Amino acid sequence: MSTTTHQPQKSEISFTVNGQRATVHAHPMERLLDVLRQQVNLTGVKEGCGEGECGSCSILMNGVLVNSCLVPILQANDADIITIEGLASQDRLHVLQQAFLDCGGAQCGICTPGMILAAFHLLSKNPQPSREEIGEALSGNLCRCTGYTQIFESVAEAARRSTGR
Ligand code: FES
Ligand code: FES
Repeated sequence: MSTTTHQPQKSEISFTVNGQRATVHAHPMERLLDVLRQQVNLTGVKEGCGEGECGSCSILMNGVLVNSCLVPILQANDADIITIEGLASQDRLHVLQQAFLDCGGAQCGICTPGMILAAFHLLSKNPQPSREEIGEALSGNLCRCTGYTQIFESVAEAARRSTGR
């Protein structure tokens, strides 16, 4: 007697990522993290815990900071996504990226894209955050390397550079 295993059907899913339209074929419950890394080649999206705890996989989806390891690709249909690759212009780092470089906010770099996207989200709503507000906004992003002082300083420095203060 033969047995047949039924693979779930792949669906065509389209979204905008960093201003470009992307269409992928994926099982509906595949993680957005994996699809972005493996099908769209956006390997700046990092996997840390894979369980929604560390924030390394953070992206912006429809203006909301989300952990892409927890998002089934189905939910990304028609979404507007920003990853770390969308921040720099062609010949210039984003002010946050430059500040992380200048202030030592990145060491191994696994947490850095998620940290920068969380900070980007914060500064888009609050261009001059206090230290407490920076700490609160980045509280979902864990770093094993820098001890947070340089990360918070990087965000504060980016805010100073952006607002000319
Ligand atoms: S890898 Fe997604 S929250 Fe840690
Ligand atoms: S720089 Fe290594 S985890 Fe943050």
